[in-house]
Amino acid sequence: MASEDFSGNYMEKARTTKGVADFSPGSMTEFRQLGNGVFEFLTDNGVLLRVSLVDDGVVRFRFTPEGRFERDFSYALDPDFQPEVPVHEVVEFGDGVAIKTGNLSIRINRGGLKTTVTDTNSGVILSQDEKGYHWQENKQYGGEIVKMSKVCQNGEYFYGLGDKSCDLNLRGRRFQMWGSDTYAYTSDTDPLYKNIPFYISLCKGSAHGIFFDNTFRTSFDLGAERPEVTSFFSQGGEMNYYFINGPEPLDVIRRYTRLTGLVNMPPLWTLGYHQCKWSYYPEAVVRNIADGFRSRRIPCDALYLDIDYMDGYRCFTWDAERFPDPKKMVADLEKDGFKTVAIIDPGLKIDPNYPVWQEAYDKNYFCRRQDGALFKGSVWPGLCHFPDFTNPKVRDWWAGLFHDLIAETGIRGIWNDMNEPAVFEEGTFPRDVRHDYDGNPCSHRKAHNIYGMQMVRATQEGLRRHSNGRRTFSITRSAYAGTQRFACAWTGDNVASWEHLNMANLQCQRLASSGISFVGSDVGGFIETPTAELYLRWVQLAVFHPFFRTHSSGDHGDQEPWSFDRKTTELVRDAIELRYQLLPTVYTTFRQYVRDGTPMLRSLPFVDFNNPDAYWRSAEFFFGDHLYVVPIMAEGEEGRFLYLPKGDWFAYHDDSHPKAVAKDIWIECPLDRIPVFVRSGAVIPHWPVQQYVGEVEHPEPELRIWTKNGKEVSEWYEDEGDGQAWKDGGFRESKIRLEGGPGNLSLHREWQGRYEPGYETIHLTFCGIDSEEADIRVVIDEHEQRAVRGDDGRYRVNTHRNFFSVKLEWKPAKKASPKSIGTPGK
Ligand code: GLC
Repeated sequence: MASEDFSGNYMEKARTTKGVADFSPGSMTEFRQLGNGVFEFLTDNGVLLRVSLVDDGVVRFRFTPEGRFERDFSYALDPDFQPEVPVHEVVEFGDGVAIKTGNLSIRINRGGLKTTVTDTNSGVILSQDEKGYHWQENKQYGGEIVKMSKVCQNGEYFYGLGDKSCDLNLRGRRFQMWGSDTYAYTSDTDPLYKNIPFYISLCKGSAHGIFFDNTFRTSFDLGAERPEVTSFFSQGGEMNYYFINGPEPLDVIRRYTRLTGLVNMPPLWTLGYHQCKWSYYPEAVVRNIADGFRSRRIPCDALYLDIDYMDGYRCFTWDAERFPDPKKMVADLEKDGFKTVAIIDPGLKIDPNYPVWQEAYDKNYFCRRQDGALFKGSVWPGLCHFPDFTNPKVRDWWAGLFHDLIAETGIRGIWNDMNEPAVFEEGTFPRDVRHDYDGNPCSHRKAHNIYGMQMVRATQEGLRRHSNGRRTFSITRSAYAGTQRFACAWTGDNVASWEHLNMANLQCQRLASSGISFVGSDVGGFIETPTAELYLRWVQLAVFHPFFRTHSSGDHGDQEPWSFDRKTTELVRDAIELRYQLLPTVYTTFRQYVRDGTPMLRSLPFVDFNNPDAYWRSAEFFFGDHLYVVPIMAEGEEGRFLYLPKGDWFAYHDDSHPKAVAKDIWIECPLDRIPVFVRSGAVIPHWPVQQYVGEVEHPEPELRIWTKNGKEVSEWYEDEGDGQAWKDGGFRESKIRLEGGPGNLSLHREWQGRYEPGYETIHLTFCGIDSEEADIRVVIDEHEQRAVRGDDGRYRVNTHRNFFSVKLEWKPAKKASPKSIGTPGK
C-alpha cells in the first residue's frame, strides 16, 4: 500500500510494492470544446482532461480519473489577475487533437491522453509527456496519488522550486514540498521552509515553466531516478498543472508571477538596512542599539522585537517590565528614524486568563483533530492551540487583533515565524487535523503547505486595516506559490559559515526566480558567530538582496555592524552606505517586479540563456537590468575567477573596463568591496547617503552614466515612497535612452506619471570617459555647460529635475584601449 511516510524514493517503492496498481488513461472517446479556450477530453476508462488556454503562453492541464471535477479552488492564483484567452484554432488529426495559438501548439494524443507542447515559431518541442498522467488509489486516505512524467531532453536543465539550498541547476535531483522548520539546514536538506511547486526548464536557449498547483506533499524528480524522465507527483489532490511559455527564462518567471500575483510597492524604508536579534530587550537595550547606529553614523531603518517583548510569549501582549511604555519607545525610535517591527507566531498559549486565547476558544477558531478534540502542540509559550487560518472568519478576526500593535503602538511591520507550522517534538501538526480551507473542508495533508501563507495573508490584512493608508510590511518564513502577494520572506535559521553565505546567495536568487523577489537571509548567520571577514562579505552581498537584515540567535557573540574590529565597522558602514546610495536603483528594480513580475535578482543562466556555459553557474547574478554582482564567498579570497557575460562592462567602483570576454576572467577582490560590474551605457540612479530613508526630505538624485559605443535604455522610478498614490499615476517613471560613440554621447529622457519630485537639481556624473581634456562640452536641453572632472576621473554637471536631453562631446584619448582588471596571483 502507498506509504504516507514519504521517504523521497516513493517512485521506486510504488513500482516494487506488491498490489499497488498504477493506472493510466485509456483511449480518447470524446472531445468537447467548452468555449473560451477550454477543452475536455474523455477516455474509455473515465479519465477526464481539461485543457484551458488561460492567458498568452499559459496553458492549464487538469486531470481526474473520476470523469468529473471537484470544485475548482486555488490559494495560489491571484484573484486580480485578468488573463486574456489567446486567439486559437483546433485541428483534429488521426492520432488526436491539436490546439494552436499564435506561439504554441498543444497536441493531445488519443492513446493515453499524452500531450506535447511545441513552439510554433521554431518548431521546437518544449514539453512532451513520457508516461504522462497516471495515478494510484490512495487506499489509506482516499483519493489518488497523482503523477505526471515527461521526457527530459538532452541539454535540458531545471531551476526554481523556491528556497532549495543546493546549486541553482537542479538537473539530476529530486525534491519535496512539505514546509518544515529546518534549524541549521544544510545544502542537502529537503524539504525546507517554503513550498513553491514551480520550476523553469531551459533547453538550448528556450525556456518554459511547470507550475504544479497542488498543496499536498508533492515531489519533483528532475532526471534523478531516470535521466531521461522528469516527473512530479503528489500524495493527493488533482493532477493540476500549468505549462508556462518563455521563450526567454525571464518571460517564464514574469508569466508565473502574474498568474500567482504581482505585488504592491513596498514602503521605501523597508529597502533600507534592518537590524534584528533574538532578542533585543529590555527597552534600554533597544534604545542603546538605536544610539549605536546613529552615534557611529551607520545607516539603519528598522529595529526588531523578537519573541521576548511579549508577556510569556503570548502574542499581542507586552512584557510590562521589559517594555513599560512601548508606545513611547516606538515613537521615540520613530523620531530618530527607526521603524519598529515585531514578531507574531501562530501558536496561542492555552491560558484562560489570556483574552486572545479565550476569544478564539469561545469562537471555535482553533484547529481540531479528526474526532473533534482541539489540537494541542508545544511551541515557545508552552502548550498552544493554533488558529485555523484557512477559515476566512478566523483571518478576519486575526486581522482585527493588530489594532493595538499597529494603530495604537505604532509598530510598522509584522514578522510571522514558525508558520510552516512548526511544533516542538512532532515537527508539525498531525495529518488528521481539520481545516476549513475556505469552505473546502480537508485534513492537514492538504492544508499544511498553505497554512503559513494564510497566516501571513491575515496578518497583512491586519496591517492594511490599521495602517491608515500607509503601505504595509510583513515577513514570512513559510510560503506557498503566490505568497509574494502578502509578504516578504527570509530564508530561516541559517548558520554563520562560508557555506551558508553561499547558500544565502543561491536561495535568494532561487526565490526571486520563484516569484518571491522581496527576500533576504539572516545576514552573518542566525546560529553561531561569524568572523569579521565572513560578516563583512555577507553584508556586501546583502547590499544586493532586496530584504537586507542582520539577524542572529543572540546566544553567542554580538552581531551588530560594530561588534567586530574598527576596520570591519568601517567597511560594513561603507557597504551599508552603498545600499543607501543605490536605493533609487533598488526601488526602480522593485518597480519592474511590481509592474511586470520581472525578478529583481536575475540568475546568470536566465540572462545569458543562449550560452550553455552559463547553465551551471550559480554565483554571479544580475541585480536589475544593469548591475552584475560577483559575490565573494570564501575566506581570505583576494581574487577570483568570474564569468563575465557577453557585452561591454565597466567595474562599478572604479570604471576599469575589462575586455569583453564570456570566459572565466580573473579579478582582484580586496576586502573593501565585492566586484560589481555595470553594463556600458547604463544610467544608474543614486542618492546621497542618509542615515535612514526620509532623513533628507527631498534627496537630490545623482544619475551615473556610463559611456557606450551603441545604444542602451535605462529606467528610473520615483514616487513618494509610501501611501497609495502610486496606484493611480502618482509616480514618475523615466525611460532614459542613451546613444553613444567615440567622443560623444546623448541622452533622451521621457517619463510617465504625474508625481512631481520635491528636489530641484539632478546631478549627472559621466563615468568611463577616456578623454584628453579636463572639461568637456555638455548641452542640456539646448543650454551649454562645462562638466568638471573629479579626481576619480568622472565628469560632473548639475541640471534641472525636468531635463529631457543631454549631449556630450569630448576629445577621446589617443590610445583608448580597454584596460585589464587584474591578473591571477597578483
Ligand atoms: C525561529 C526563527 C528565528 C527567531 C526565533 C525566535 O527560530 O526562525 O528567526 O529569532 O524563532 O523567535
